[in-house]
Amino acid sequence: MSQPPLPSCFLSIFFIILASYFLVINALVCRPDQIQALMQFKNEFESNGCNRSDYLNGVSCDNATGAVTKLQLPSGCFTGILRPNSSLFGLNHLRYLNLSYNNFASSSLPSEFSNLNRLEVLSLSFNGFIGQVPSSISSLIHLTHLNISHNEFTGSFPLVRNLTKLSFLDLSFNKFSGTIPSDLLLTMPFLSLLDLKKNSLTGTIQVPNSPSSSRLVFLSLGQNQFEAQILKPISKLINLNHLDVSSLNTTYPIDLNIFTSLKSLLVLHVSRNKLLPASLNASDITFHLESLVMRGCDITEFPNILKTLQNLRNLDLSRNRIEGKVPEWLWKLPRLSQVNLAYNSMTGLEGSSSEILVNSSVQLLDLAYNSMTGSFPIPPPNIIYLSAWNNSFTGNIPLQVCNRTSLVVFDLSYNKFTGPVPRCLSNLPIVNLRKNGLEGSIPDEFYRGALTQTLDLGFNRLTGKLPRSLLNCSSLRFLSVDNNIIEDTFPFWLKALPNLQVFTLRSNRFFGQLSPPDQVPLAFPELRILELSDNRFEGSLSPSYFVNWKASLFKVDEEGRIYMGDYKHAYFGYEDTLDLQYKGLFMEQGKVLTSYSTIDFSGNKLEGQIPESIGLLKALIALNLSNNAFTGHIPLSLANVTELESLDLSRNQLSGTIPKELGRLSFLSYVSVAHNQLNGEIPQGPQFSGQAESSFEGNAGLCGLPLPRSCSAPPTQQPKEEGEEKEEGVLNWKAVVIGYGPGLLLGLLIAHIIYSYKPK
Ligand SMILES: *[C@@H]1O[C@H](CO)[C@@H](O)[C@H](O)[C@H]1NC(C)=O
Ligand SMILES: *[C@@H]1O[C@H](CO)[C@@H](O)[C@H](O)[C@H]1NC(C)=O
Ligand SMILES: *[C@@H]1O[C@H](CO)[C@@H](O)[C@H](O)[C@H]1NC(C)=O
Ligand SMILES: *[C@@H]1O[C@H](CO)[C@@H](O)[C@H](O)[C@H]1NC(C)=O
Ligand SMILES: *[C@@H]1O[C@H](CO)[C@@H](O)[C@H](O)[C@H]1NC(C)=O
Ligand SMILES: *[C@@H]1O[C@H](CO)[C@@H](O)[C@H](O)[C@H]1NC(C)=O
Ligand SMILES: *[C@@H]1O[C@H](CO)[C@@H](O)[C@H](O)[C@H]1NC(C)=O
Ligand SMILES: *[C@@H]1O[C@H](CO)[C@@H](O)[C@H](O)[C@H]1NC(C)=O
Ligand SMILES: *[C@@H]1O[C@H](CO)[C@@H](O)[C@H](O)[C@H]1NC(C)=O
Ligand SMILES: *[C@@H]1O[C@H](CO)[C@@H](O)[C@H](O)[C@H]1NC(C)=O
Ligand SMILES: *[C@@H]1O[C@H](CO)[C@@H](O)[C@H](O)[C@H]1NC(C)=O
Ligand SMILES: *[C@@H]1O[C@H](CO)[C@@H](O)[C@H](O)[C@H]1NC(C)=O
Repeated sequence: MSQPPLPSCFLSIFFIILASYFLVINALVCRPDQIQALMQFKNEFESNGCNRSDYLNGVSCDNATGAVTKLQLPSGCFTGILRPNSSLFGLNHLRYLNLSYNNFASSSLPSEFSNLNRLEVLSLSFNGFIGQVPSSISSLIHLTHLNISHNEFTGSFPLVRNLTKLSFLDLSFNKFSGTIPSDLLLTMPFLSLLDLKKNSLTGTIQVPNSPSSSRLVFLSLGQNQFEAQILKPISKLINLNHLDVSSLNTTYPIDLNIFTSLKSLLVLHVSRNKLLPASLNASDITFHLESLVMRGCDITEFPNILKTLQNLRNLDLSRNRIEGKVPEWLWKLPRLSQVNLAYNSMTGLEGSSSEILVNSSVQLLDLAYNSMTGSFPIPPPNIIYLSAWNNSFTGNIPLQVCNRTSLVVFDLSYNKFTGPVPRCLSNLPIVNLRKNGLEGSIPDEFYRGALTQTLDLGFNRLTGKLPRSLLNCSSLRFLSVDNNIIEDTFPFWLKALPNLQVFTLRSNRFFGQLSPPDQVPLAFPELRILELSDNRFEGSLSPSYFVNWKASLFKVDEEGRIYMGDYKHAYFGYEDTLDLQYKGLFMEQGKVLTSYSTIDFSGNKLEGQIPESIGLLKALIALNLSNNAFTGHIPLSLANVTELESLDLSRNQLSGTIPKELGRLSFLSYVSVAHNQLNGEIPQGPQFSGQAESSFEGNAGLCGLPLPRSCSAPPTQQPKEEGEEKEEGVLNWKAVVIGYGPGLLLGLLIAHIIYSYKPK
């Protein structure tokens, strides 16, 4: 009757052998019972994404006893609830436990952690733990390193008083409230790092009477609800070299002089505080600061205090209200390397543009969102990131950028530059010169092995043809030449670019056929966004036109929310952005997820049928074919484009009915089929009937909501209709919640970027 438990027994022996194999490879000797506990621990969780060998690589055992002493899970290995009866708590010889970056969402921290009382290192950050930290944590008296940051812990400050050996304590990014225990620093003589950033803590902090007895070098208190009294004790922590007191929410301005006793201080974050203007002007402060971050401090004039900071490397004054010009002395600070002055009201740079920066050590310079005028300075010799977007600089783009081999991001978009596009763009990976007054043609000088990844020359006055040498840019991902006066045929030749994802040539004078001459379906292997509107393209598209759009054929799952052109660097980021203009949806300079696709062929002279293969583009969220001369029916296959949010087929010569199946596109928030020759009933359901009447006007034969004209012959198949109604009820609800919400197209996070939504 009952089967002997042989298979499972056999299985675990097999696992033990297998596991031992890995562990022996690591020259580690783990006892079988320990290995079994480890495997049991693994089985308590969903570990599909878990790489078995990585898991076991993170295990160490004691040479003499064979007990597990160290366990470090790879990121994202486990998902599930960490239960009090977990076999983890049997591994009571553990000294080092790192479970960071897994997903124990909604687990509270079991008090059984106290079994692991040999622990020296405990790291549980980024896990989604909730609830209070159990008091039993106080029995882990050997801990030197405790990191429970980036969870959802609540309640008062954990009971850590007895952990007298602690050297690192990181509670940041949780929801702890209440005060810091008054004797925290007194009872923890070895504490060198204390990170409490982003909690809801209040009150102040006590420091030992003899300040030199504190070993604290790193203290982060930012984004809590401390009061200003906390500054005074801090000023006694003379060994500090890193201090973050951002967002203190004090009622009176902070006097920077209070930090002058901190002779070792190298890094100071005081963002989002009100600062005493006079203390920003002091000339007698002797700081050795290397990094000073004062974002959003309401500063109105350039702080003279910086003059004395001869060691300064990193300066962030962004999001203040500083007026006037950037003083010339700033660039003479000998070590200055990163300067962020974005989002102020500065009017320019003091000094001669041909000289001020030529000897500067600056590598990252952000002047974006100011009101700077005049000609642009010759960039510093070792510049890596140079952004001055959204200012009013005039004159030519300085040709010296061609000489700056370290330059990666060059963004002078939204200015008033004139003259030619520099001939050396292919030296630079990311170039954005959008919305200027540049003239002439795009230089045909992209060399083999060009570095170009992003090239945005939109909204200039460029003429001529698209340079054929772009074919040398095999890394090109983003190409935007929209709103110029380029006169050329469709660049089928660009299909040779293996990485091209976004291509817009909206509003130019492109002409000719969009179908390749050899009638082979268009093939851009990675293309997701193609904007061709307002040109003079003509001819028809074959039914199989879209079959080779590989990148758009599959919808990437929600997890893969990766933005297109998200260039990440240790010290800067740049994100490709573009204007998306769909009727009812408008986004200037929006970020776009790699997993979605848009097509805009509107305002051309395209004719023939809409290709049935459009239905293959599972990732399509916006389609605009309006203002052409398309004929025939609306393809039924559109009902398969389930992510579609915006559909504009207006001003064509389409006939027949609107396929009822389109009523099921639950994300659809904008539809227009106005000015065609459609007839029959408008599909019912909120996506269609919720549209403006104007979305359907100019079709003599259409009837049903939202048009006032009702359809004369209502369907009579009672039972079927009931079923449908039920289903539609569900869809209705979804549509109200999602379809009329911001939707994906607009829900995409916006970068450094403005964004506007113009509802119909
Ligand atoms: C597991 O990770 C190791 C090293 O990180 C890698 O070599 C191996 O291919 C991975 N195995 C699987 C199945 O992903
Ligand atoms: C255990 O053995 C390894 C290699 O055999 C050696 O490197 C390590 O020091 C030993 N550890 C202890 C605690 O004896
Ligand atoms: C813990 O593991 C994460 C990655 O899994 C790593 O980034 C972190 O440095 C580790 N921390 C410690 C203290 O070992
Ligand atoms: C642990 O407890 C849960 C319920 O809380 C139970 O479902 C599970 O079987 C227990 N596991 C073991 C190994 O006892
Ligand atoms: C805590 O762990 C997280 C994730 O590994 C890490 O980013 C953070 O720097 C750690 N804190 C300390 C103080 O090491
Ligand atoms: C700390 O340790 C002392 C004695 O060593 C003990 O009496 C006290 O209860 C402990 N406190 C906590 C919070 O565990
Ligand atoms: C700042 O303090 C005031 C009271 O002084 C409080 O009402 C407000 O919520 C605090 N703001 C933050 C962000 O904590
Ligand atoms: C700062 O100093 C400058 C002269 O160096 C002076 O013009 C300005 O008024 C001072 N500002 C404040 C707030 O003291
Ligand atoms: C830049 O440095 C060079 C060499 O040190 C010097 O000759 C030149 O005058 C400097 N230029 C400026 C504008 O300071
Ligand atoms: C440029 O900056 C101004 C304010 O200085 C702002 O109103 C405008 O929207 C910005 N333009 C863009 C495209 O972000
Ligand atoms: C470009 O660099 C070379 C040396 O690397 C220098 O001789 C030349 O003057 C530079 N040109 C410009 C325009 O800065
Ligand atoms: C929609 O897709 C399904 C399978 O994905 C396919 O069988 C069906 O033919 C498609 N419908 C249309 C009208 O293309």
